Amino acid sequence: MKDKSRNKKTAVVILAAGLGKRMKSDIPKVLHRICGGTLLDFVLDEVARLEAGEVVVVVSHGADDVCSEVGARALCCEQSEQKGTGHAVMVALEALDPRFKEVLVLPGDSPLIKASTLQGLLSEREEAAAAASLLTAEVDNPSGYGRVITDGSGHALGIVEDSDASPEELAINEINTSMYAFDRALLDEALKALKPNNAQGEYYLTDVVEQFMSAGRMVVAIRGTPEEALGINDREQLAEAGTLMRKRINSALMVEGVTLVDPDRTYIDHGVEVGRDTVIMPLVFASGATRIGSGCKVGPCSEINDSVIGDHCDLGFCWLDAVEVADRVTIGPYSKLRPGCKIGPGCKIGSFVEMKNTVVGEGSKVPHLSYMGDADIGREANIGAGSITCNYDGESKHRTVVGDNAFIGSDTMMVAPVEIGESATTGAGSTIYKDVPANALGIERTEQKNVADWREKKKGHRVAGRSRRVR
Ligand code: UD1
Ligand code: CA
Repeated sequence: MKDKSRNKKTAVVILAAGLGKRMKSDIPKVLHRICGGTLLDFVLDEVARLEAGEVVVVVSHGADDVCSEVGARALCCEQSEQKGTGHAVMVALEALDPRFKEVLVLPGDSPLIKASTLQGLLSEREEAAAAASLLTAEVDNPSGYGRVITDGSGHALGIVEDSDASPEELAINEINTSMYAFDRALLDEALKALKPNNAQGEYYLTDVVEQFMSAGRMVVAIRGTPEEALGINDREQLAEAGTLMRKRINSALMVEGVTLVDPDRTYIDHGVEVGRDTVIMPLVFASGATRIGSGCKVGPCSEINDSVIGDHCDLGFCWLDAVEVADRVTIGPYSKLRPGCKIGPGCKIGSFVEMKNTVVGEGSKVPHLSYMGDADIGREANIGAGSITCNYDGESKHRTVVGDNAFIGSDTMMVAPVEIGESATTGAGSTIYKDVPANALGIERTEQKNVADWREKKKGHRVAGRSRRVR
């Protein structure tokens, strides 16, 4: 983007006080989520790239929640009564320092807008020395949007809201995106003259355009894409925006050298990083602060949240939350790794294994049907099938320590707190409740008893039983 320094005199006003009635929700509209971010996050991210002098978010419904989401990214300003978009901008202007000579207004419910388009809106207004510039879009289904009346040469004459439009006006498919750049002084003046003469009895920001026109001032209409114009008013539009955003995220990943086997069925959230030559199979959901290394194979059907995965890993059919996985690790199918797990290089975590708060050293294997909770497993250890750390005594959690090179026989119950030393072995089926020293065998089993000719005896009983019933 060229010349951001000019934006220092610009203030951005984001409108986010509306009720969002059409969402039928208890959550403020701008806090609904797509691709791992709120609608407002996406708008704020793009706005941040402009490096404007000030950013103000106009809030009301769920003000506390919206403001805490905004955090230090902008100034929150409360519109106590929702008297329309024009009124919302008036409230914002009251809070703005006079040194801001230009105001960029945008709705908080249009998450697909790009910073470069907003920059265009600012610079084109300046170049044309216009009172305002307005972003429009030509869409197939304009219903619900304000229609833009133009003079055919790029100037807007007015905007008619859907609920106030005549049948001829309804047929127009150039719509108002609700994104504008204004000369601040002229905007101030025009807002003061606004009247709520419309179907909804609101102060419409859109009426400012007609006022400028009748005062002989110019409003340049700039045509944007229908995608960027998409304003979320209901759940269908929310889903549509999610699909479009996902496409954007996925294309960017593919440009960077990630293979997506089926991009329409890959759900990677905003902010997730994936290294080159990683292949993502269908139905992978990656979210939060997840970073996946390069040369990995991920999926199909996996959920990875807030996790860091090294290079050359193979993860399939697994569920990972807040875990760290080093390079060359194999996980799955059907593994569940809960928060606090750290898996060392070259490890194998196999089918039907659940882990929590467990550290596994380099080269160790937990291949089948195990639960490892609150454990420290050393390097090159092998945990046999069906082994379990009994980490919870009903009151508190305790740790299990398994030394380097230890061999845990299948179906070992490790009753924590307990420590199995370096190169120690446990006998299959043992309940280990005392520490096993290094190099020792820990075995806990009752002696096996063999009953001779048992099958024959059992058969005899069964025949006798049946004949009794027949009689
Ligand atoms: C608005 C525009 C319409 C445009 C559409 C684009 C007006 C009158 N209409 O209609 O021309 O095509 O956006 O998506 O401006 N808000 C407040 N305070 C209020 C009312 C609204 O902050 O008192 C906020 C809302 O939270 C929302 C934005 O302003 O983020 C737009 O309001 P909304 O009710 O969604 O307007 P639309 O009917 O979509
Ligand atoms: Ca809207």
